[in-house]
Amino acid sequence: MTDLLFVNASQVVTCAGPARARKGAEMRDIGILTGAAVAVSEGRVAVIGAERHVAPAYEGATRIDCKGRVLMPGLVDSHTHAVFGRPRFEEHELRAEGHDYMEIAKRGGGIHSSVRDFHSRSAEDLLALSTARVATLASYGTTTLEIKSGYGLSLEDELKALRVVDRLRQASPLRIVATWLGAHEIPLERRASEATRAEHMGDLISTILPAVAGQGIATFADVFCEPGVFTIDETRRILEASRRAGLGLKLHADELATSGGAELAASLGAASADHLAAVSDAGVAALAASDTVATLLPGTMLFLGKSRQAPARALIDGGAAVALATDYNPGTSPTVNFPLMLTLGVSQLRMTVAEVVNAATVNGAAALGLAGETGQIAPGFAADLALFDIGDIRELPYWYGAKLCVGSWRAGRPCHPYEPELS
Ligand code: NIG
Ligand code: FE
Repeated sequence: MTDLLFVNASQVVTCAGPARARKGAEMRDIGILTGAAVAVSEGRVAVIGAERHVAPAYEGATRIDCKGRVLMPGLVDSHTHAVFGRPRFEEHELRAEGHDYMEIAKRGGGIHSSVRDFHSRSAEDLLALSTARVATLASYGTTTLEIKSGYGLSLEDELKALRVVDRLRQASPLRIVATWLGAHEIPLERRASEATRAEHMGDLISTILPAVAGQGIATFADVFCEPGVFTIDETRRILEASRRAGLGLKLHADELATSGGAELAASLGAASADHLAAVSDAGVAALAASDTVATLLPGTMLFLGKSRQAPARALIDGGAAVALATDYNPGTSPTVNFPLMLTLGVSQLRMTVAEVVNAATVNGAAALGLAGETGQIAPGFAADLALFDIGDIRELPYWYGAKLCVGSWRAGRPCHPYEPELS
């Protein structure tokens, strides 16, 4: 593999520091360097320093002229549901007419509608759809992508979902992390009685989880812990079993209504508690006192037409580690634009630019257990980089909705070669 030498960046935003999430006031530091070159060897960052010092040792390297743009760690999108079939645009209008997300779900729409569609599709069809969608996500600067199952629900269809994620992982230039979200919804036919609900819990814990863990096709387990979906007690049982099976833990916690998901995540030592738009003060305090990353998904609340957002300021000011992600999915957040989530982070969540940048890099990596591998430009870290067509990092959340990524690399290999000379 040839070495690379990145030169002429207006700023190199390193996010360099310890190989763990940035908490509280630590999120204000993103290490902006000017006049710096970055040398990459064997897919890893080798040296960062003044070009005149670094260049002589890398004469044989491929020189990448950043042309006065900003070079930063590739974005880490730590929460998506990117493997799905049909989009659900009809529900968008239904909500505008006053039908709530949960009401649509209770009538058999929402996730249930995606589950029926998913069941009818072949793995090849889902792989083709997902391959194109992942490429679009990458075109906005994402180099690490978490993808959840959860539109399968049954043993057969959850395995179909995770095998598609596995094939994406093997074929895609991005770094892809798989999460088993078998507990995304309770199948309609099993909602009928306590007995059938208990049967479903039994299947999740005793049949589907062992099959998923046994095949080694998921790194994390996740549960949609929400009133009307999985209760706190059910979530705890599923996640404790998942931990025993060797999976890391994540939760959809306190997304639409307060139920204590954040406190549960902290008490289980989960890698992340995600959503949190309805988190209680006690939940904020529990996360702040823990190592669980609070992953906020402002696109979801925006798209659902809710005026409330997660209390990012209270979380950060209380000392928690906050990450941002797209929640890319057909129901509540059909956006491929991760930088737009940074815009929402600043204007809706009142985060600073440095905070949203750390939230989308180092802290996203920590939410995936990858804080020692990606999310910062520092010697020894994977050369996961993104080049944006801006002169100052503050422009990234500013030009909202724009597609500014002109190239990205995962472990030194082109991920999104927008400009031919960057491939
Ligand atoms: O993160 N809340 C649960 N899961 C997704 C929505 C999935 C869907 O509606 O298809 C979310 O919002
Ligand atoms: Fe989600």
